[in-house]
Amino acid sequence: MDRIIINGGHRLAGRVSVEGAKNAVLPIIAASLLGGGLSMLKGIPPLQDVYTMSEVLSRLGLQVRLNGEGEVRVDASVVPAAEAPYDLVRKMRASVLVMGPLLARLGRAVVPLPGGCAIGTRPIDLHLKGFEALGATIDIGAGAISLTAPSRLKGARLYLDFPSVGATENLLMAATLAWGTSVIENAAEEPEVVDLAMYLQAMGARIHGAGTRVITVEGVDALTGAEHHVIPDRIEAGTYLVAVAAAGGEAVIAPVIPEHLKAVVAKLRETGTAVEEHGYEVWVSMRDRPAPIDVKTLPYPGFPTDMQAQMMALLSVASGTSVVAETVFENRFMHVDELNRMGARISIDGRTALIRGPARLAGAPVKATDLRAGAALIIAGLIAEGTTEVTGLNHIDRGYVDVVGKLAALGADVRRVPSQQAATESPVVTLPLCEPGRLS
Ligand code: EPZ
Repeated sequence: MDRIIINGGHRLAGRVSVEGAKNAVLPIIAASLLGGGLSMLKGIPPLQDVYTMSEVLSRLGLQVRLNGEGEVRVDASVVPAAEAPYDLVRKMRASVLVMGPLLARLGRAVVPLPGGCAIGTRPIDLHLKGFEALGATIDIGAGAISLTAPSRLKGARLYLDFPSVGATENLLMAATLAWGTSVIENAAEEPEVVDLAMYLQAMGARIHGAGTRVITVEGVDALTGAEHHVIPDRIEAGTYLVAVAAAGGEAVIAPVIPEHLKAVVAKLRETGTAVEEHGYEVWVSMRDRPAPIDVKTLPYPGFPTDMQAQMMALLSVASGTSVVAETVFENRFMHVDELNRMGARISIDGRTALIRGPARLAGAPVKATDLRAGAALIIAGLIAEGTTEVTGLNHIDRGYVDVVGKLAALGADVRRVPSQQAATESPVVTLPLCEPGRLS
């Protein structure tokens, strides 16, 4: 398997270009199922998850074309099949986002049960409860969920016990073609939900309140295809902000939408990192050791759970003790063991981690267990003395385009060793890989 090799201790300087947001692109590609025509999606990052979601739509019978310029062309004029492919749903949990569009367009959807993974069981009970409220009947058996709407979905008042991003997106998509009005209460406010709503509106959907806790949808009879350019990836941008804060130096990161990074920027400033916003660019610089801070992950606009692991790597070298509370997922501390193997001093008590800094990090062979854990290990490698080898790159490739190239351009001593070369060198200690469908 490929490895990323990092020799730590180099300050960073330069410019990072930010890709389109993975977590906006995935629901938007799924939403193109709703339109009875041609959609042109732009600013699409060349990521494994994007290829997987595109493959799901192809396997459902749609014509999906990705060109080399970050564009995806979806022709949804044909009526799609109702059964999502097991091998792809198992590979990527976000495939469950085809449920809402298939149910709305066909009155039927059969989707294999998504696996949990390293960051928790990740149920979809809120999705299913909402679909039932819209008039669907649900059968679960043989590892798959079958949703059937005997007649057209009927608008309803939908309350989410938790502002789940995926449930908000799935129900929003289903409600666009329901008969009558739906109201989603306690909805997720993430920017990716808003971006999805913008695309749906371009398709002819009637949506009000996206980005607030209450979203109102007036069902329409049909949607067309549409053109849409996705928003920049706030988590990729945040990851590079933290990398510069950790390694020291300065960088310009663009494009960003500053509003989407408010919580991350606020917490970085608390550590003593200098951050300035200039239009769609953010400038970051750090000369000293970060100060310790307390972080609590929350649904947007709170501090994003997808930035928790990266922040923990930074805080491991802070000049004191920090506390990180993970309130969104029940098991998102898988990176702690690996950071501790590098010399961090992190202890866990339930959903709270105590990070005693400053630690002296030393390079070591480490393994990514999920996408953001991988990012955290790379950041730790930038700081550590000596050489760090990161494996589990299949996770990292799902959410980061050319992380090695972007960090090397900033002056990091980092390279990717392809698997055949890796195989001929000393074996790296590997931990059991967490496959979707099994808890770690
Ligand atoms: C989305 O996942 C993102 N993925 C995640 O990003 C992100 O961490 C998460 O939202 C939270 O912001 C995509 O958008 C593709 P949730 P999602 O439903 O929709 C519980 C990354 O690294 N829950 O908001 O699956 C759930 O178990 C990924 O880019 C239920 O209990 O997240 C979790 O504890 C990781 N029942 C919490 O809600 C449900 O029916 C948040 O989940 C649904 C969710």
